[in-house]
Amino acid sequence: MRGDPASVARAIDGYAQSASGMIHLGRDKGILFDQVVAQSGAHRILELGTNFGYSVLRLAKVLGSQAEIHSVEVDRSLADTAEAIISYAGLSGQITVHRGASQNVLDCFTTPFDLIFIDHFPQNYLPDLLKIEERGLLQEGGTLISDNVVLFGADLEPYLHHLRQSGRYHSSLHQPRPGADGFEVSIRCGERSTDTPI
Ligand SMILES: C[S@@+](CC[C@H](N)C(=O)[O-])C[C@H]1O[C@@H](n2cnc3c(N)ncnc32)[C@H](O)[C@@H]1O
Repeated sequence: MRGDPASVARAIDGYAQSASGMIHLGRDKGILFDQVVAQSGAHRILELGTNFGYSVLRLAKVLGSQAEIHSVEVDRSLADTAEAIISYAGLSGQITVHRGASQNVLDCFTTPFDLIFIDHFPQNYLPDLLKIEERGLLQEGGTLISDNVVLFGADLEPYLHHLRQSGRYHSSLHQPRPGADGFEVSIRCGERSTDTPI
C-alpha cells in the first residue's frame, strides 16, 4: 500500500519467495534486527548494500522520522528500483540512496554514524570495515550489524576474527534460531578499551 513501509516490506518478502537468488534480510532475521535497531536508538544510519531497499524500510519504520538513513548500492538499476520503492513507501525525504561501490562512497562521508549495517558482498566486508575505522565513521558506542555471517561462513572468518578479537568491539552472533543464518552485532568500544581483551 502506498505510504505504508510495512506493507511494502511484506510485498518484497512475498516477491523474494518466488525470485531465485535474492538475498534480502527477510522476515525471520528482520524481527530480530528490528529489536537490535530499536535498542540502538540510532539517528544517523549507514547501510552498505541497498538491493531493493527492504532493510532500509525496516530501519526507517523502527527508528521513526527523526532518523537520517544513507544506503549505498553499486548496481545502478537496483539503486533506481530501490529509490522508486522508497518513494512509493513515502520515505524519500528520509532515505538517500548513493550510487557507487562502497569503497569509493565511504570516502565521501565525514560525519560519524550511530549505526552501520553491512550487507553487501563478503569480499568487501573487511576492507570496508577497515576504511570505516580509519575514517572514524562509527561513533564510540555505535552499533555495527553485519548480515549473513553464517551463510557466508569461511569467507568471513578474518572479518569475524577482527570484530571478536581486536578489542575494538563487544561482538556477538544473533540468530533467529540455532543453525539458521544470522547477523553479528558489534558495539564499538571507547578508545581506552582498545587494548582490553574481550
Ligand atoms: C544481500 S543484498 C542487500 C540486501 C538488502 N540490504 C536488504 O536486506 O534488503 C547485497 C547488495 O549489495 C550490493 N553490492 C555488492 N557489492 C557492493 C559494493 N561494493 N558497494 C555497494 N553495494 C554493493 C549488491 O548489488 C546487492 O544489491
